[in-house]
Amino acid sequence: MTKQEHRAPPKFKSNKVQNLLGIQVVRMLYYNTLWTLRPKPGLPVEISHLTEKLDRDGFVLFPNFLSDSLFRKVKEEFRQLSPLFEEESLPPASNPSIVRKLFLSRIEAPSALRKAFLENPHIALMACHVSRRELWKEPQLVLGEWSCSQKMLNCSGQFTSADTIHFDVPYPSAKFFFYIDDVSDKNGAIHYAPGSHQMSWGRVLCEYKQSLFSMPNPLPSRKDVERCHLNCISLAGSGNTAIVINAKGFHYRNIFSSTVPRRLVYIDFRYLDDLGAP
Ligand SMILES: [Fe+2]
Repeated sequence: MTKQEHRAPPKFKSNKVQNLLGIQVVRMLYYNTLWTLRPKPGLPVEISHLTEKLDRDGFVLFPNFLSDSLFRKVKEEFRQLSPLFEEESLPPASNPSIVRKLFLSRIEAPSALRKAFLENPHIALMACHVSRRELWKEPQLVLGEWSCSQKMLNCSGQFTSADTIHFDVPYPSAKFFFYIDDVSDKNGAIHYAPGSHQMSWGRVLCEYKQSLFSMPNPLPSRKDVERCHLNCISLAGSGNTAIVINAKGFHYRNIFSSTVPRRLVYIDFRYLDDLGAP
C-alpha cells in the first residue's frame, strides 16, 4: 500500500491543434481499452447485485445505509469537526455562497466516520469494481457543507460549474456520497443519467466536440442528449442515504432553490487511476 502518488490522467489538457486532431478521442479510447483488458476484481456474492446495477445504470443508491446508532455517531462527529472546515474561494468574488470542506488526511478520521466509511469493505470493493483497480492506498474522506446565499438561489454557477451536466473523467471511476441530512432537489441533490457511462459513438463524438471548446463543462447539445441517453434522474434522499456513481457518466448537482445547506461526506476514488497505478 506504499506507493508514490501520481496525477490522474488529464481530461482536456491539450492545445487546440491537438484537440482538432482528436487527441481526446485517442486518450479516451486508450484508457477505456486498458480498462477493458484489466481483469475484474473478485467480489463476494452478496454484493453482485449492486455491481450489476453499477455496470448497467452507472449508479447505486442505498437508503438507510448505516445503523441508527452509527448514523447518530457519524452526525455527531461531523458536527464536532465543523469548526475545522475550511472555506473554499468561489468565483466570482461577489458570490456570497459558501462551501466549507474538511479533508480527513489533515487530521485522522475519528472512530465512527472511520468505521462507517473507511472500514466498510463494500464501498472500496464497489470502487475497485468500477475502475478495475486494486485499492493501493486508503481513500480520503471529505466532509463538506454547501450553503447557497439568498442572492444566488435558482442561478447557475452557485458554487462551481458542477451544476452543469458533465462527466468527471472519460474512463470508469467511482465516487461515493453520503447525505448527512435530507438532500432534495431544492438543496443540491445529485442528478445522474442512467447508462450514460457506457461507451458509444455518441459519447466519442461528444468528447471530441467538448475538447474543441477547451472548457471543462460545455453544455451538451440536444443531439448529444439523444446520442448519449442523457435523461437524468434525481438521486435525492433523506439523511443516511449513500450513493455510488461511476463518474464517467453524465451528472450534475441540482441548482439550489433553498438556503438549507447540503451536508455530505464523500470519497473520490479517482486516485485509483493515477498515472502509474497498478
Ligand atoms: Fe462531477
